[in-house]
Amino acid sequence: MCGIVGCILNDKKAAPVLLECISKLEYRGYDSVGIATVNENTKKDSTKKDSTEKDSIEKGSVENSSIEIKKDSGKIKEVDEKVHLADMGGNIGIAHVRWATHGIPNKTNSHPHMDNSGKIAVVHNGIIENYSEIRENLEKEGYKFKSDTDTEVIPNLLEKYMKKGMNLEEALKEALKIIKGSYAIGAICKDNPREILAAKKDSPLIIGVDEEKGEYYIASDAPAILNYTNNIIYLDNGEIAILNDDGVVVKDSNDNIVDKEIDVINWTADMAEKEGYDYFMIKEIHEQGIAIKNTLVEKDNIQDIIANIDGNINRICFVACGTSFHASLTGKYLIESMAGIPTDVIVASEFKYSANALDENTLVIFISQSGETADTLKALRKANETSKTLAIVNVLGSSATREADHVIYTKAGPEIGVAATKTYISQLICIYLFAGLLAKNNDLLNDLEKVPDYIEEVLGNEDKIKEIAIKYKDAEDFFFIGRGLSYPTALEGALKLKEITYIHGEGYAAGELKHGPLALIDDDIPVVVVVPPGDSYDKTISNLEEVKARGAEVIAIGPCGDEFIEEEVEDTFCIDKEVSEILAPLVYVVPLQLLSYYVSVERGLDPDKPKNLAKCVTVE
Ligand code: AGP
Repeated sequence: MCGIVGCILNDKKAAPVLLECISKLEYRGYDSVGIATVNENTKKDSTKKDSTEKDSIEKGSVENSSIEIKKDSGKIKEVDEKVHLADMGGNIGIAHVRWATHGIPNKTNSHPHMDNSGKIAVVHNGIIENYSEIRENLEKEGYKFKSDTDTEVIPNLLEKYMKKGMNLEEALKEALKIIKGSYAIGAICKDNPREILAAKKDSPLIIGVDEEKGEYYIASDAPAILNYTNNIIYLDNGEIAILNDDGVVVKDSNDNIVDKEIDVINWTADMAEKEGYDYFMIKEIHEQGIAIKNTLVEKDNIQDIIANIDGNINRICFVACGTSFHASLTGKYLIESMAGIPTDVIVASEFKYSANALDENTLVIFISQSGETADTLKALRKANETSKTLAIVNVLGSSATREADHVIYTKAGPEIGVAATKTYISQLICIYLFAGLLAKNNDLLNDLEKVPDYIEEVLGNEDKIKEIAIKYKDAEDFFFIGRGLSYPTALEGALKLKEITYIHGEGYAAGELKHGPLALIDDDIPVVVVVPPGDSYDKTISNLEEVKARGAEVIAIGPCGDEFIEEEVEDTFCIDKEVSEILAPLVYVVPLQLLSYYVSVERGLDPDKPKNLAKCVTVE
């Protein structure tokens, strides 16, 4: 996830406005920031800058006009202090905050990116999936690349087509014909000094219109520009927009001009960070579909890792904490049942207390959202002494990614809420890809594509879970039970509840209740039963009956159309019956996340910042 903005202003300087707008998007990425402006007839004397500032300034070719870029890695405030982002000439420009995907977070990989001739600058949010192929072809034609990003192919493609006589708009259309993947693009060119081109596919991009002043904006989301205009055009996939002094023209992929409506939105600028959601947690729950789609892109990387280690591995050992531990448990079930490799799961803080029988034929997989959890890092360092290590991590460039032998990124984007939601789903996707590729289970790999739609269906019935949350918000204890692959889901449901509602929640293997905890069950205790269709269904239903017979209030999460559940259980949340037992962990957890979220909000708590907890635990 990255953020982009752009503006065409009249008399005002663009850079201070861009800086303010891009700051509203910092939640979308904080690896680097950069601004490019068009200076008309400008020849800046860069010798007057101090050396640090000079180092962060790139100059395009200077003829009648030029492109000036200031960019660097780090948070906006840090970069601004270093290079004075607002101190740039020109009334037109584009800006970017980066959440790195291709290439480490450094100055070279920061946006905006320029073409070889220095006349075009581009900002991009999304992933160009076929960038290696495009880059290779451009390199054969003599183009040189500075960065490791996928984005840098865009300005060079534009330049290539412009060299053939096309204007910027024609060049962009030509480039979009060969680019595969997702993008929100903003482009400026010194040859068209009063124009911004924008294009969108599967990444958000809106246009802001201030007709009165004749000033126009682009942005990843509306709150970024709300201080300047509330008049918004929403670009659709495949559309491009041409912004210049005459206004905004939007064209579809067949080059037809589209008559776009201008929506007047009544949001306020201070809603920027949460995109209109009340809390980051609910926003992040809603981002799980896109997090899955982005993480599925890791398939080739995972295949390469497997090719590198397969054959030498006779045991797998997962190590993680909290939610990441629950994802790991799911991995044990999947890998052992599908690939037949013995798999253990160890809580990271317990790792050092056991010999763990690691050797060179053990693959130790560390799962961590932050990549900085002290317990996990400690275990990783120990495992590196004996075994091959693999880290599944969300935060790019974090310690775990630098220290493990192999890395898989969960491409969930920055997760701000302390309770892990979309990163849990992305961790699971990585594990499913790993297990599916290991077992060459193409059916499972294909089925993963359907999961975002199943999750959308659940989110479409959010109100139903909210009703259940309101009913049970004053309970003092909850149980969550499930069998097999649904056991980690039950554990995760209980952790979410404890974390953000401060209600005691116990996750249990459904068959284990009768070995002790059943003594606690009475009519004060809601029991959430996770019961997808499949092998574990009948036995889980028996456990449901057991707790019901002891007076528990049962909340069943089961398949839609299940007659038994509909008749016997008062509070139910149903999931598309096509969601098989093997896919269930990816979908059945969503109502549990929502249940905790709404209980927390109904109790007047802040689910984003639970007491005593931090997003990243850097102490043992
Ligand atoms: C999850 O909701 C928690 N915030 C917590 O359990 C977390 O998963 C745990 O601290 C591990 O963090 P990591 O994934 O960053 O290593």
